[in-house]
Amino acid sequence: MKQVLVLHYSQSGQLTEIVNNIVTDFKNDDAVELHYHNIELEQNFPFPWTKKDFFGVFPDTFLQHAKAVKPIPEAILNNTYDLIIFGYQVWYLTPSLPISSFLQSESAKTLFSGSKVVTVSGTRNMWIMAHEKVKKHLKSLNASLVGNIALVDRHINHISVITIVRWMFSGKKKKYLGLFPKPGVSQRDIDNAVKFGPVIKQHLFQNSFNDLQENLLKNDAVKIKPFLITVDRKANVIFTKWANFIHKSSEPNTKKRETLLKFFNVYLFIAIWVVSPIVFILFLLTYVFNIPKIKKQKEYYTSVELLENTK
Ligand SMILES: Cc1cc2nc3c(=O)[nH]c(=O)nc-3n(C[C@H](O)[C@H](O)[C@H](O)COP(=O)(O)O)c2cc1C
Repeated sequence: MKQVLVLHYSQSGQLTEIVNNIVTDFKNDDAVELHYHNIELEQNFPFPWTKKDFFGVFPDTFLQHAKAVKPIPEAILNNTYDLIIFGYQVWYLTPSLPISSFLQSESAKTLFSGSKVVTVSGTRNMWIMAHEKVKKHLKSLNASLVGNIALVDRHINHISVITIVRWMFSGKKKKYLGLFPKPGVSQRDIDNAVKFGPVIKQHLFQNSFNDLQENLLKNDAVKIKPFLITVDRKANVIFTKWANFIHKSSEPNTKKRETLLKFFNVYLFIAIWVVSPIVFILFLLTYVFNIPKIKKQKEYYTSVELLENTK
């Protein structure tokens, strides 16, 4: 009997639906025993978000300052798994705070050491550098990343910014003004996630995950837009400065912190609506010269490899 653990965190339930669909095929198989655990922080974040909390969570999230995670039941901790399906979302180009907190916990050491892991993310579209951070955590936990499925909002970047903000602040995954498309991962992609189950199961029963990622990629598990790699990498450099500055020069829940976060909010607005379109034009103008580099980047970021110094 194969033991599979489905471990994830989700605020809206989007990621819960995705991971549940992925393991549909496992549920119907008597040779697989499924175990589930929802990661939670002792102090959870409210959903829908208030503007204050949404920006307030930035420094700790980006700097991966671990918070207390609710204890994981002994029955889950004491079992040994043939595979862990690990669902996470991205907050501020980083694994969400509940996820990064869990990855730094003692329970993660117990569960992940020596385990094979398939990561599943449900994000807006900017997940690549966050995934590098997850890869690093998994490596230091002595786990092997054997597959990755990254589902995103496929609409144009700026449309998805408008719709996700609306969703996060209203809690409703609906068409904004009846005009904009639905936010987040499309229902079609969520429903189609069932297709990944048989692919993973085949490798599980072969006791070999060697070419699992290749087979997941044949099923569109990851689609990369090269421009988003550029933005994600550049934004990580700038976010590092902002997060350190805000963290070092103010205490949480103070007037000063609130003011600095307002500045960060303004910076984000300008970066998204003014800087990013200019960078996009430059990206297009220099595209032909960068084709070999882009090809290499796409190959690497769709893989489960980890290079410590990715350029
Ligand atoms: C505070 C916050 C920051 C976010 N930052 C990003 C981001 O940097 N990149 C991205 O692709 N999605 C981002 N998202 C969207 C999430 O990755 C995710 O798709 C959404 O919150 C739904 O996840 P759920 O399953 O937890 O409801 C962010 C969401 C929140 C709440």
